[in-house]
Amino acid sequence: MNADLILCAPQVVTCSPGNAPRLGSQMGNLGLIAQGAVAIVKGEIVAVGTQAEVCAKWSGARSYHRGALTPGLVDPHSHPLFGGSRVNEFQMRARGATYQEIHAAGGGIWSTVQATRQASNEQLRDSTLERLKRMLAHGTTTAEVKSGYGLSTAEELRHLKIYQELKGQLPMQLVLTFMGAHSLPQEFTGRQADYVKLVVDEMIPAVAAQGYAEFGDVFCEVGAFSVDESRQVLQACKAAGLGLRIHAEEFNHLGGARMAAELGAISVDHLQFLPPEDFPALRKAGTIPVMTAGTSFFLGMSQFAPARGLIEANLPLALGSDFNAGSCLSESMQMAMSLGVLKLGLSPEEALLAATVNSAHSLGLGQQVGSLEVGKRADVLALNLSDVREWPYHYGVNVVETVYCKGVRVG
Ligand code: NIG
Ligand code: FE
Repeated sequence: MNADLILCAPQVVTCSPGNAPRLGSQMGNLGLIAQGAVAIVKGEIVAVGTQAEVCAKWSGARSYHRGALTPGLVDPHSHPLFGGSRVNEFQMRARGATYQEIHAAGGGIWSTVQATRQASNEQLRDSTLERLKRMLAHGTTTAEVKSGYGLSTAEELRHLKIYQELKGQLPMQLVLTFMGAHSLPQEFTGRQADYVKLVVDEMIPAVAAQGYAEFGDVFCEVGAFSVDESRQVLQACKAAGLGLRIHAEEFNHLGGARMAAELGAISVDHLQFLPPEDFPALRKAGTIPVMTAGTSFFLGMSQFAPARGLIEANLPLALGSDFNAGSCLSESMQMAMSLGVLKLGLSPEEALLAATVNSAHSLGLGQQVGSLEVGKRADVLALNLSDVREWPYHYGVNVVETVYCKGVRVG
């Protein structure tokens, strides 16, 4: 039989089985094949095995790589569309100001909202495209991307439309999330309930009517939205047919993650302050905890999400970049994996499965991406490392040599 392309390498890291989220105790096995090959037809994987096995059945152009082949990384949490820069806040934080102090003083998300509202479509398209290309160059072949720097119906729709337009301009797969309840816009100061009503009654129906987003998200936090307000937002998202995600327990334990799990959220994200009492609610609902160690690191927090406890409780944890203007300005899922090992105590195997199989399932894409298996999208990375366990160890640099999206070499 004829393949369009056969990729060959000394090590193929299949991450299989990837058809179900890997629960904590199953996060050690990467499904390695020595002297392996991946055959591709029409952008889909048709065979995976040793080179001898695959080449006995399949003929076609071969591409030999000197390092390991892995699935493309799946980033389940990012905010890449924004205007302006928060480099001044970065310096303030370096001198001791905290993220929350800056937020409470009217900086933070609000300063990015102002800059984003002022930016033209073209400026936002170009800057977001550049960031997405950087994600892709660092091996992210599927990314969840959120709105949330508009905070008015027209602006939120404008941003989601730009993401929609960018979908066609890049080989990577984008999954859109509406996050109108990211922060209270200043024009609603003192009228928090009115803003929640606007999100619920106007924004969510408008987003759903346009078909612009697959998921809805909310920032449940002191200084953002309470558990009750977040519940209202997520209930409206659910009624409108959006899948649910939440930013919860990032700086305080409020109970947002448990609430979201009870509503059937597919993921609950951040979780630095998630206590063990809340783990069973996630287990019961099949909700995937997404950790963004980069946020704690970039904000200089000593508190990181309780990854080992979640693994011991047999939850399928995922890793995300949380790439955004203020709390984590890094597009790299490789960095997220390194921090997963260094700060969350993951093994390299756990970090990779959290950034592939489990992150894919946290987006409802577990049958399409996240592992190198027959029938999946041929999103494949060739690394310049021959042993994949060295990936998070070699931190802060890009070890991805070649990126294939749907079987096409894109970088
Ligand atoms: O995921 N937590 C809320 N939202 C972002 C931060 C956004 C910003 O600071 O601009 C986050 O950390
Ligand atoms: Fe975030």
